[in-house]
Amino acid sequence: METIPVKYPGGEYPVCWGETILPDAGRLLRAAGFGGACAVVTNPVVGGHYAQPVLKSLTDHGFQPALCEIPDGEAHKTLQTVAGLYDQFFAAGLDRKSLVLSLGGGVVGDQAGFAAATYLRGVPFVQIPTSLLAMVDAGVGGKTGVDLPQGKNLVGAFKQPRMVIVDAATLATLPGPEFRSGLAEALKHGIIADPALFEAMQQGALPLPKMIAAAIQVKVDIVQADPFERGRRAVLNLGHTFGHAFEKLSGFQLRHGEGVAIGMACAARLAANLGHCAPAVADQIISAIDFLGLPTALPDHEPVAVWQAMGADKKKEAGQLRFILPTAIGQVDIFTDVPQAAVIEVLTK
Ligand SMILES: NC(=O)c1ccc[n+]([C@@H]2O[C@H](COP(=O)([O-])OP(=O)(O)OC[C@H]3O[C@@H](n4cnc5c(N)ncnc54)[C@H](O)[C@@H]3O)[C@@H](O)[C@H]2O)c1
Ligand SMILES: [Zn+2]
Repeated sequence: METIPVKYPGGEYPVCWGETILPDAGRLLRAAGFGGACAVVTNPVVGGHYAQPVLKSLTDHGFQPALCEIPDGEAHKTLQTVAGLYDQFFAAGLDRKSLVLSLGGGVVGDQAGFAAATYLRGVPFVQIPTSLLAMVDAGVGGKTGVDLPQGKNLVGAFKQPRMVIVDAATLATLPGPEFRSGLAEALKHGIIADPALFEAMQQGALPLPKMIAAAIQVKVDIVQADPFERGRRAVLNLGHTFGHAFEKLSGFQLRHGEGVAIGMACAARLAANLGHCAPAVADQIISAIDFLGLPTALPDHEPVAVWQAMGADKKKEAGQLRFILPTAIGQVDIFTDVPQAAVIEVLTK
């Protein structure tokens, strides 16, 4: 097992990563000074695979863990589900020092984290991400929350975990399309800030735990520099302005990572067309996305419909739409002056 330290204003926590480290959870948390009653928040799918080793490890190290299940799926990422968690925490006898652990993908992590941020005005929180997306993205950075009928992630809190435990062995059961969706975010981190990660992913050359650790490190460096998302952290949205629009227009049939993959291909083409990167850089990005089994081709939408879905029609000036564009492999910049015509051009088949 290895660790990546993460600093934030007022503290620091480790991301512990390796293979088959779930059975170490109890020991690690005991050594960090925790004990007593705790809640393991999961869903029936992930819990069915991994709750037992985590519960056993906690019990073996003197914890009294309670299994708190929530339903699987983004459709249940609501205040109502979080209210159900408060009931389960109360029934389990959690006090202000009790740990809340999240065992699952980003949907479980966002809700368990939000519940931990608000129950008794905040109890300590630990992330055990089990999807690739949650390992390389959602598990680090402290953003938690739920959806409202009006939109995604509209209610939430910053809640830094006390520890993140990343066990790459849990990915063995993650469905293929979910795995590839996570690969899109990992590749994104390579494009943003780590040419060696990009290169290795492009060649399939890196063992999974190392690839995950490198992708986490990119996110760590960015969130440390901008913990409350006031500026530079926006670079993590590479491919997302386009990607969200494709997700929306597909009626959310497209997975987030698939939308981001097509979005990164669009961003690469746009950057090349505007002269912000060499055409060879754009080609390299597109072929890496393709190599990972992710889509790069434009879906069948009118360019103007995509433009509108990006929210551009709501801005007074088209130029206010913000694009994160690659300038080289491992380097991106934030552009607010992209002409509408250039965007329409990359959206045209
Ligand atoms: N907080 C943040 O910074 C942040 C960042 C990015 C995304 N998110 C949020 O994360 C969510 C998406 O996360 P996700 O992609 O992990 O989706 P998810 O949590 O829905 O997980 C995808 C599916 O895989 C299952 N699963 C997870 N791990 C598994 C495993 N090891 N074996 C078998 N099945 C497993 C889940 O139960 C689910 O059915 C969104 O709600 C998004 O808003 C948050
Ligand atoms: Zn994303």
